[in-house]
Amino acid sequence: MGNNEFVDHANDILINVYGFWPVQFTHGKGVYLFDTDKNKYLDFGAGIAVNALGYAHPRYTKAIKNQIDKLHMGLCYVADPYRIEAAETILAVSEFEQVFFCSTGAEAVEGALKIARKWAKAEKNKDAYEIIYVKDSFHGRTMGALSVNGQQQYREGYEPLLSGTHEAKFNDLESVKNLVNANTCAIIVEPVMGEGGIITATKEFLSGLRTLCDENNICLIFDEVQCGMGRLGTIFAYEHFDVVPDLVCMAKGLGAGFPVGAILGMKKFTKHITAGTHGSTYGGNPLACTAVTTVTKELLRPGFLENVDHVGQVLKDGLEEISKDTNLISDVRGIGMMLAANFNGGPVKDFVKKCLKNGLIILSCGENSIRLVPPLILTEKEAKKGLSILKQTLDDIK
Ligand SMILES: Cc1ncc(COP(=O)(O)O)c(C=O)c1O
Repeated sequence: MGNNEFVDHANDILINVYGFWPVQFTHGKGVYLFDTDKNKYLDFGAGIAVNALGYAHPRYTKAIKNQIDKLHMGLCYVADPYRIEAAETILAVSEFEQVFFCSTGAEAVEGALKIARKWAKAEKNKDAYEIIYVKDSFHGRTMGALSVNGQQQYREGYEPLLSGTHEAKFNDLESVKNLVNANTCAIIVEPVMGEGGIITATKEFLSGLRTLCDENNICLIFDEVQCGMGRLGTIFAYEHFDVVPDLVCMAKGLGAGFPVGAILGMKKFTKHITAGTHGSTYGGNPLACTAVTTVTKELLRPGFLENVDHVGQVLKDGLEEISKDTNLISDVRGIGMMLAANFNGGPVKDFVKKCLKNGLIILSCGENSIRLVPPLILTEKEAKKGLSILKQTLDDIK
């Protein structure tokens, strides 16, 4: 991998929040990345479930290039045609009436919490600001998002966070019910917990939350930042579970690499956000909106989502085969192209680096799991190639 002096240099000049890997990517093509030494990597990480269309996707790059030549940044006071088209395109495939564009997942979560609080103060009572979240969830790193984060390690050192947030258990409706009172304004949940280990909600849990929210006039927020935009083989994750939330938070795959997030919701809730009460300078700028429109249209192309289902299943079956062969991985889980398995061969982060050395990018998640979230354009052949590198890397450490 050549000399790694750049890692020391990076650690010197960049605030080291990531623990930099010993590699520098220079470019990508399809599902492959290339480094400064011209090594090729099959990418099952996709910028942490972001690069839905892979690298140098012809229609995506063409659309962004065209847009940058025309108008790269507008003015948020102006509903330019790009913002309108993105809104119409994403709303048309959703259940929702309005959308707000921002730039990141955490910002989408922040905005959703603000909408819920504003609605509840106006429609319920002035003290209705309590929010329920679940253990092991991840919603981002800003102070509001951290306040509904169910993983203590991300909160440590930053407290006190928002008041009025309460932790329930995932897939345990009773634990949520026990926290509901007249001041509950929102419940926030990931339909599939990503950072928490690719843990899927049961349909009963999500539909139970829906009923609970309907009966108690509570805003149900789904955080689909990681599991939305085709990752589960449906545009929105909620479609997979047949449960429609009141607000949904999107990012990552929404721009497929261009930073853009969104909150979609019904006017009952969103109408409480009026001019001047929320905003985002870059949110929904022409480049971001072109990315949203282009990505959404790609996902709707015949066969695209079917590919996620089919190749996702090939990956999952392959992981299960490997787990039968070696006890180094177990508990294969996930939906579509959002997959994980427990890693039993030591610290997973070391194994991730070994895979990298062998030309395969995978991620970690949860306590000690491997996570596969490849570009959604992955083919069966590429999936099998990745599985064979994974198998070889596991054999190396046996
Ligand atoms: C479910 C979920 N919500 C929110 C976020 C935060 O997104 P961002 O890093 O774009 O702020 C993430 C990021 O991993 C996420 O997985």
